[in-house]
Amino acid sequence: MTQLLRRTGSIMRYQRRRPGGKKSKRPHSNKVPESKETDFGFERVAAGEKAARVAQVFDRVADRYDLMNDLMSLGLHRAWKAFAVALARVRPGERVLDVACGSGDLARAMARRAGPSGQVLLTDINGRMLARGRDRLLDAGCLAAAVQCDAEHLPFSDSWFDCVTVGFGLRNMTRKDAALAEMARVLKPGGRLLVLEFSHVWKPLERLYDLYSFKLLPWLGERVAGDAAAYRYLAESIRMHPDQAALAAMMERAGLSQVEYFNLTGGVVAVHRGYRV
Ligand SMILES: C[S@@+](CC[C@H](N)C(=O)[O-])C[C@H]1O[C@@H](n2cnc3c(N)ncnc32)[C@H](O)[C@@H]1O
Repeated sequence: MTQLLRRTGSIMRYQRRRPGGKKSKRPHSNKVPESKETDFGFERVAAGEKAARVAQVFDRVADRYDLMNDLMSLGLHRAWKAFAVALARVRPGERVLDVACGSGDLARAMARRAGPSGQVLLTDINGRMLARGRDRLLDAGCLAAAVQCDAEHLPFSDSWFDCVTVGFGLRNMTRKDAALAEMARVLKPGGRLLVLEFSHVWKPLERLYDLYSFKLLPWLGERVAGDAAAYRYLAESIRMHPDQAALAAMMERAGLSQVEYFNLTGGVVAVHRGYRV
């Protein structure tokens, strides 16, 4: 654990931070410049404000998160995640990091593959989502450390993990390039990064998909989670996210090679995979 942790993180399982202990300053590990403004859905907000706005969204929907995933994707998110996990090809004994783990679907499936000799770590910036992920893994009989941290500043040593995954999380990050650089940094050379994310849909499906996203999703969000705005944000943030080719180029700039992507459900979702050079 001490080799793994580069800087002080908030570890839910190990409770490492002592009361009254000094908080470490987090030096920026990556050289990506800060920008002043960013998108929050279709809104422009100060870059420093986005993380808090995203946190509010997930705080509000945490309790209904899994039910909403099933309803709005008609269960398809399970198949998308299973595909990403299959592409990750986790083997027994490997070290795996699931970034922005939320309620832990990817981590749980990968923990089974890594087995007792492996190590799966959950991270999320949001304490409520992370606790949910950790508890669901425990309920499934998997013991995994859960670290609350920002993907843009991962508190782990360089070259530690065999595989890093991020499922439906990158879109919400303020500095996606910084987060990708961090994920590449903690990978061993030859290790792989899997990015599962909403993407740009096949042109003929666009009108139907817009109707679904901007009418049905907020309606469902209101009825099931009592929050139309959170699901309007989801639809908008998908439109603002880089398309398949742009994300592949970002991954290459972050130090990943052999980047390829797989479109699922007509490009509603794409899985990108790249290897640390
Ligand atoms: C849509 S959920 C995805 C959860 C899970 N990976 C899944 O596939 O179901 C997105 C998650 O990203 C987390 N998140 C957003 N910004 C983050 C950041 N900068 N660093 C780490 N996690 C972040 C949120 O708290 C939330 O739990």
